Amino acid sequence: MAKNKIQAPKGVSEYFPPRSRTFEWVRSALIKPAVLAGYELIELPVFEDTELFTRGVGESTDVVSKEMYTFQDRGGRSITLRPEGTAGVIRAVIESNLDRGQLPVKLWYSGPFFRAERPQAGRYRQFYQVGIEAIGLDDPAIDAEVIAIADAGFKAIGLKKYRLELTSLGDAQSRAAHRVELLKFIQGLQLDEATVARAKINPLRLFDDKRDEMKAAMSKAPLLMDYLTPKSREDFESVKSYLDAMGIKYLLNPKMVRGLDYYTGTTFEFVHELLGAQSGIGGGGRYNGLMEELGGQSLSGIGFGLGIDRAVLAAEAEGVLPQGYFVCDLFIIPLGNKCKSKSLEIAHQLRSQGIVTQIAYGDRALKGAMKAADKTGSRFVIVLGDNELATEIVELKEMKTGQSTSVTLSDLAQSLKRVLRP
Ligand code: HAM
Repeated sequence: MAKNKIQAPKGVSEYFPPRSRTFEWVRSALIKPAVLAGYELIELPVFEDTELFTRGVGESTDVVSKEMYTFQDRGGRSITLRPEGTAGVIRAVIESNLDRGQLPVKLWYSGPFFRAERPQAGRYRQFYQVGIEAIGLDDPAIDAEVIAIADAGFKAIGLKKYRLELTSLGDAQSRAAHRVELLKFIQGLQLDEATVARAKINPLRLFDDKRDEMKAAMSKAPLLMDYLTPKSREDFESVKSYLDAMGIKYLLNPKMVRGLDYYTGTTFEFVHELLGAQSGIGGGGRYNGLMEELGGQSLSGIGFGLGIDRAVLAAEAEGVLPQGYFVCDLFIIPLGNKCKSKSLEIAHQLRSQGIVTQIAYGDRALKGAMKAADKTGSRFVIVLGDNELATEIVELKEMKTGQSTSVTLSDLAQSLKRVLRP
């Protein structure tokens, strides 16, 4: 009797061909602007000591209070699958003394993250991000650079229907002054116990309450933007002027609340117009107290996380994925065993020269093999039979046009390179 099929855990995002090609293309497009700006790769564990996130991300957040995958390891330690990347990066920077060298420390990362959210389109329990962190300098020019890198990534994919929302959470003094007024305002509201508890840890979180009555109540609440100290205001003005200079458009959103508690100063979100409820394709900001909170020196930082899954959905929704980008360059159809060996040899050589080459395996009849060539999206095909082996001449056929040219085997790589990368 057939056994029950094992299924993937609920709510995870998975990529397999052909869609994994899109995923990989989007991922590299998002990373490239960071590499061009001198950010270097950091690879970190996907599980960390739970305390890293309770302290780093904040207990008032949904992420920490209800969405973490936390378990005890065999040594009885409390471990959590990383719900985000920034806390881990700062932990590693402190631990490896990277912050004792040249500043800013500029790092990029990419990989899976885990949040036990209610799954829906664009919201997964395992999802993927590309992120960067610039640590150690509190200069508004870095804020603008970080935002510009995220924007360049989305532009490189071809996205157009998104907006950049921007605000400032100010410095500690700005937030303290605002907090006093906000708490006064909140005391005048009728709130349930859970909301009061949340407001105690971080009153800003009430701006993010999705309930209609809370939205209405909070519409008159004092805004942090109106309590910025002159220095915070000046820094924010500089960030905006640098963005203007780079031609990057933004919308001010003084009610923006990020889902993580470590933010200070410049904060931002990229919102896509065609993605419905899960429209945040990326976000980030400054986190000037995080390193100290995690036991390191008092250094500032700023970064972003871009959702690769949502960027893929956005690219599909806008129909901007390049056609023909993923095709195989050459498909070889060997007829018979001797020709198969020669095919392997040719493919091996072509691949070493950067030409994407596939072979029709399994002794298929010519018709079936041609169909396979078509399915792989190959641009060219050659058939290798005894005759071709003897003369060392093949017919290089372009699949789309059906046109073919005779090419000697020794010239094959050069001929392909001429047409593939003129
Ligand atoms: P975040 O806004 O929580 O920020 O996540 C960044 C992006 O990850 C979101 O804009 C979204 O595109 C994607 N994302 C988040 N949760 C999910 C999910 N359940 N399913 C699919 N995509 C999701 C951070 O994580 C910060 N660490 C960013 C940062 C870096 N801030 C400073 N440095």
